Amino acid sequence: VGLKVITLDEVDSTNEYARRIAPGVPEGTVVVAKRQTAGRGRKGRSWASPEGGLWLSVILKPPRVDGRIVFVGALAVTDTLADFGIDSGIKWPNDVWVGGRKIAGFLTEGKAGEYAVLGIGLNVNNPIPKELEGSATAMVNFIGRPLPLERVRERLLFHLDGWYRVFKGRPELMMAKVRERTFILGRTVRVIEDSDELVGRALDVLDDGSLLLDVNGELRRVLYGDVSLRFF
Ligand code: BTN
Repeated sequence: VGLKVITLDEVDSTNEYARRIAPGVPEGTVVVAKRQTAGRGRKGRSWASPEGGLWLSVILKPPRVDGRIVFVGALAVTDTLADFGIDSGIKWPNDVWVGGRKIAGFLTEGKAGEYAVLGIGLNVNNPIPKELEGSATAMVNFIGRPLPLERVRERLLFHLDGWYRVFKGRPELMMAKVRERTFILGRTVRVIEDSDELVGRALDVLDDGSLLLDVNGELRRVLYGDVSLRFF
């Protein structure tokens, strides 16, 4: 990952750009932009992407379709934050949180059997929109002064490379780390999937990436697909 890095000042969305070029570039190519004019979040939401944050997409060509690729991003981000002395956790299935607030999100897209695009948004020095102040944060808030974005990017690419190798070779080892860093285990959560809603105690993250819930004494397995999770 990161042997080839395409750096842009401005783009609609690095995920969109990555999808456009994916068929013709080597695996591990990274697209990074200073700002996005149409940054996208999950579930069709928009993602505020002003200058100062790390907005990038990695083009991967994994041997099989496997949604657990999002955990490559989550582990790499938690490692990167640790490099800067920030303690973070994975909010299964696809956010990284610090001190009760979201600091990074992931958007994976792709074409089955051809390529996967792993989009990562990490709030570094960028201001957090007013309406998200209670629920989102940025690295700068913990360090007290702006961070060298280049250096953060370098650490992130380094860790992405490492975790992608683990994912391809020993996915169960990767999942063991995900389990360790998932901070929701033991807590009562509400899982929302389309119009279905499940309330239970989070017991475990299984090797296939799903969450094991105890719902009134009944064990339920929730796939990580299009799920969002709330606390009580
Ligand atoms: C989410 O938490 O909803 C996912 C946010 C993903 C944002 C990143 S920023 C880089 C890449 N390009 C996009 O348009 N989105 C992802």
